[in-house]
Amino acid sequence: MNNTGKFYVTTPIYYVNDIPHIGHAYTTIAADILARYNRLKGNEVFFLTGTDEHGQKVEKAAKEKGLQPKKHADIMVENFKNLWETLNISNDAFIRTTDKEHIATVQKILQELYGKDEIEKRSYSGWYCTPDERFWTEKDLVDGNCPDCKRPVEQIQEENYFFLMSRYQQRLIDYIKTHDSYILPETRRNEVLGFLENNTVGDLCVSRPKHRLSWGIPLPFDDNFVTYVWFDALVNYYSATKYLLPHASRLTPHAEDWWPAVHHLIGKDILTTHSVYWSTMLMALDLPLPKNIFAHGWWTVNGKKMSKSLSNVVNPNEIIDKYGADAFRYFLFREVPFGLDGDFSEEALINRFNTDLANGLGNLMSRSLTMIEKYRGGEIPDAVESKDREDLEKRINGLFSSIQISYDDFIERLQFHHALAQLWKIISEINEYIALAVPWKEKDEGTLSNILYTLAESLRLIAVYLFPFMPGTANEIWRQLGLEGDISKFRFEEIKNWERIKTGTCIKKGRQLFPRIIEKL
Ligand code: MSP
Repeated sequence: MNNTGKFYVTTPIYYVNDIPHIGHAYTTIAADILARYNRLKGNEVFFLTGTDEHGQKVEKAAKEKGLQPKKHADIMVENFKNLWETLNISNDAFIRTTDKEHIATVQKILQELYGKDEIEKRSYSGWYCTPDERFWTEKDLVDGNCPDCKRPVEQIQEENYFFLMSRYQQRLIDYIKTHDSYILPETRRNEVLGFLENNTVGDLCVSRPKHRLSWGIPLPFDDNFVTYVWFDALVNYYSATKYLLPHASRLTPHAEDWWPAVHHLIGKDILTTHSVYWSTMLMALDLPLPKNIFAHGWWTVNGKKMSKSLSNVVNPNEIIDKYGADAFRYFLFREVPFGLDGDFSEEALINRFNTDLANGLGNLMSRSLTMIEKYRGGEIPDAVESKDREDLEKRINGLFSSIQISYDDFIERLQFHHALAQLWKIISEINEYIALAVPWKEKDEGTLSNILYTLAESLRLIAVYLFPFMPGTANEIWRQLGLEGDISKFRFEEIKNWERIKTGTCIKKGRQLFPRIIEKL
């Protein structure tokens, strides 16, 4: 939550030089989980994602296809928008750095920094890595190559504009030290601090001469240059609050209230640009810093780095076609703690699918609804007062009371795998309970009704807690239980308590949620 009680979460804006892969999907789903959770909590949410459309990479990709960069971006942006729809992403806005309002904000900021002598022109010579679009000093190079991508660099001498970032080095160190959760996970925070404390931060070259790169935002004070793509891209988080807001907020005049963001979710490879460049840019602008920058880990594929040359880039659309959007969402956030690196393989996904989704959740759902159908004609029965009802409720309800506390804590700390693990602990305990209680052998009608009511109510609560992670599945459970509406329209407070299902509700047993996958890989 920021100071004004609003929850603003962002993803990186993705380059339109390529089609979306698992890495893009990962951050966007994480932001979606947080956004959906916060809406359920009754918070006002602004969830922003978008595309990074300027710079050399994009210009080069467009040229290879014989297209103007903007035309190329217009085509490529649809791949991202379509994937977000398929994945049930609930972003409130989608920013494109070619939006005229964004361009105007970038130019305004450049002008302001130039006017405040935070940007100055210098003659510069350095080693330039064209694919990465950044300069390196002699000592940065590794065997004469770019230290990041290991490709050859070229020596370039030219005049350029520099943001005087070095001025802010100590202030940034102090800020990080006094704000424990500014950069997370802690290992990343320590890495950034270690870097800042042991190196001299240079000034940041924020321009590119137009003769070398024309596809960028022109500097408002010198038309021979465009701005460096990262300077343009980072500003998106702020510029969006000027013109792209959740519908309700657009109608109010306090747009600036949305800054600062609560979480910038990013991958670990772009931590320096966010924690050093963006933080110091904001300091120079006298703007508040975001509450948190969270850097997640990287996915490898079958143990190997994902790369085009290995042809092992995971296309989320293919996985979703085979296993469904929610199984993909579940796998990514159950398999690996958010913040650590992880390995993706279809084998591991199928394993999770069969164990957790088919045998666990799917089984609980189908056996519960089958029993309600068979023994109570599809109507959720009334629970009757009895000693065993108390015992049963105490047991199951106790499980849900414990999750109410820890679930919030886990999600607020972005420990998504813990939240899911805890939910699945409940699912397997209830499955075990059914196996032991063998309700279908129950002679006493009252006890059987109690058990069936408890199962329906448990499934309803499971759907509530599952909703941020697997919105489609949660709503399907809701619907099959015979409940009205979409979970997104409710608040936790209204639906999180026990005994909210009205007795006599007619279930609508439908398709199996997760039919077991028998395919051999
Ligand atoms: N345009 C910049 C971001 C600007 S934000 C102001 C950019 N774009 S990107 O499309 O190249 O990458 C976006 C994100 O994908 C990064 O957060 C990066 O960490 C993430 N990933 C790329 N490959 C990944 C994996 N193999 N695994 C997980 N995430 C990865 O960088």
